Amino acid sequence: MATFCTMLLLCIASLLLSGVLSATFTFTNNCAYTVWPGLLSGAGTPPLQTTGFVLNQGQSQTITVPQSWSGRFWGRTLCTTNSTTGQFTCGTGDCGSGTVQCSGSGAVPPATLAEFTLDGSGGMDFYDVSLVDGYNLPILIVPQGGTGTCSATGCLADLNSACPTSLKVVQADTNEGSESVACRSACEAFDTPEYCCSGEYGSPNTCKPSSYSQYFKNACPRAYSYAYDDATSTFTCTDASYTITFCPSTTSEKSSGGENPEAVPLVNNTVVYLGPNQVNSASHALTRWCAYSVLVLLGLF
Ligand SMILES: *[C@@H]1O[C@H](CO)[C@@H](O)[C@H](O)[C@H]1NC(C)=O
Ligand SMILES: *[C@@H]1O[C@H](CO)[C@@H](O)[C@H](O)[C@H]1NC(C)=O
Repeated sequence: MATFCTMLLLCIASLLLSGVLSATFTFTNNCAYTVWPGLLSGAGTPPLQTTGFVLNQGQSQTITVPQSWSGRFWGRTLCTTNSTTGQFTCGTGDCGSGTVQCSGSGAVPPATLAEFTLDGSGGMDFYDVSLVDGYNLPILIVPQGGTGTCSATGCLADLNSACPTSLKVVQADTNEGSESVACRSACEAFDTPEYCCSGEYGSPNTCKPSSYSQYFKNACPRAYSYAYDDATSTFTCTDASYTITFCPSTTSEKSSGGENPEAVPLVNNTVVYLGPNQVNSASHALTRWCAYSVLVLLGLF
């Protein structure tokens, strides 16, 4: 009897940890440079265990997110700590906290955003990648193990070098001339109601795509390109965990052996193949085993 109880408790504990009542987010940095993810919880949702950390090239980190969490993630680049003041600042996506932890501050635009509302309407998770605040690096979101449509989304294109001149953010202190490090949104660059969907343009009927937002939309058809771009940019999945990959590797039109990778066509002529590290992990097997054990144990009482 005592053994059963212990096992039951262990199972409940592992169910909690393995994501039945919470989701996990696994961040992976496939960029050729270091990325410092920033994490911001929405108003009224529980805080996360971290609000910022470093991801070296090739590194991954998983965090557990409480049920019904909402908020956003982004990648900070070109970060340094000032040796005199000790202040930590980033060339793009800086959150102004002066430390690696963002502690409740959001990204200074331009920054590519991964936005989530977990366990929302109908128990579904809603997620998107947004370029409404501009772009600084490619991001891919892939749901893992959920039910429903559960499409991958993201912006895979490198919009920095191709950014329209009037929106380009050039790194100030580079020796090798001007390197474009981010691409501003038209709203941020020109600050007009028309581009920002404010004032008389504050509704889906009056705020239309601009030539600038269309530039983003063409390059990244699944990402939000302006405030009312919901129809083609918001995705749903239920009871999933998520991988968030900075600079996902792209392989164009190439079959890759017997791995049976999941192909994600995000942009015409560009297909992403997800490697084994981006597909389901063993944690779901544990979850199923535990759920089964709990049912068996409950049957005994
Ligand atoms: C460090 O901060 C000081 C004081 O703000 C500033 O004058 C200096 O230029 C900074 N150093 C670097 C390397 O950015
Ligand atoms: C891909 O190309 C087809 C045909 O040209 C077009 O109808 C479709 O909208 C394009 N899809 C995206 C996501 O751009």
